[in-house]
Amino acid sequence: MTVRQFTDEKLVIASHNSGKLVEIADLLAPFNVETLAAGSLGLAEPEETGLTFIANAELKALASATVSGLPALADDSGLAVDALDGAPGIYSARWAETPSGERDFQFAMHKVEMALAQKPDEPRTASFICALSLAWPDGHVESFEGKVDGTLVWPLRGLHGFGYDPMFLPLGGDLTFGEMQPEAKHAISHRADAFTQLVEQCFGG
Ligand code: IMP
Repeated sequence: MTVRQFTDEKLVIASHNSGKLVEIADLLAPFNVETLAAGSLGLAEPEETGLTFIANAELKALASATVSGLPALADDSGLAVDALDGAPGIYSARWAETPSGERDFQFAMHKVEMALAQKPDEPRTASFICALSLAWPDGHVESFEGKVDGTLVWPLRGLHGFGYDPMFLPLGGDLTFGEMQPEAKHAISHRADAFTQLVEQCFGG
């Protein structure tokens, strides 16, 4: 089956995260695409009811594309720990919710470490995964999944990045994502992997 090419001039970025909006606009800069933030078009964020990263990225992209009448790009990402059968996975952000209703990733990483401590004989391997979906108003969607493999360290190392970065040591590296400069992380990240596939497949990159 052939992959549909993106030939439009405008693309909605179906994210309400300002960091992601800037990152995606930068990545698409060479392709003469005008990017529009879903929030600026008044598009609501759908509930993430999917059971996989791709299902969630697709439902977000399709919701924006069908309502706006323009193609839309969405992502969904998280940390999958092998010894925890892929958890926290699609619930990576949810694992950071504290009893008082705030998001605290020190708390989330502590939870991961506690769960791993129950399985001292299991490997500490994990992957960051990023799904990217490009949807058109007619309901067609193309999806790509990027991945970076690594191991989880404890105690935490580094103050850069966000989320689970201080716990993640990429395979073959000496620095955690939390210790790496942002450019070094972005060169090897799950998000970069998914973007490379999207650009190669849909933007003739
Ligand atoms: P979402 O894709 O915005 O739903 O993000 C899910 C969660 O996965 C984030 O809140 C982060 O905790 C985690 N996550 C995704 N990508 C990264 C990353 O590159 N570093 C650290 N944590 C990440």
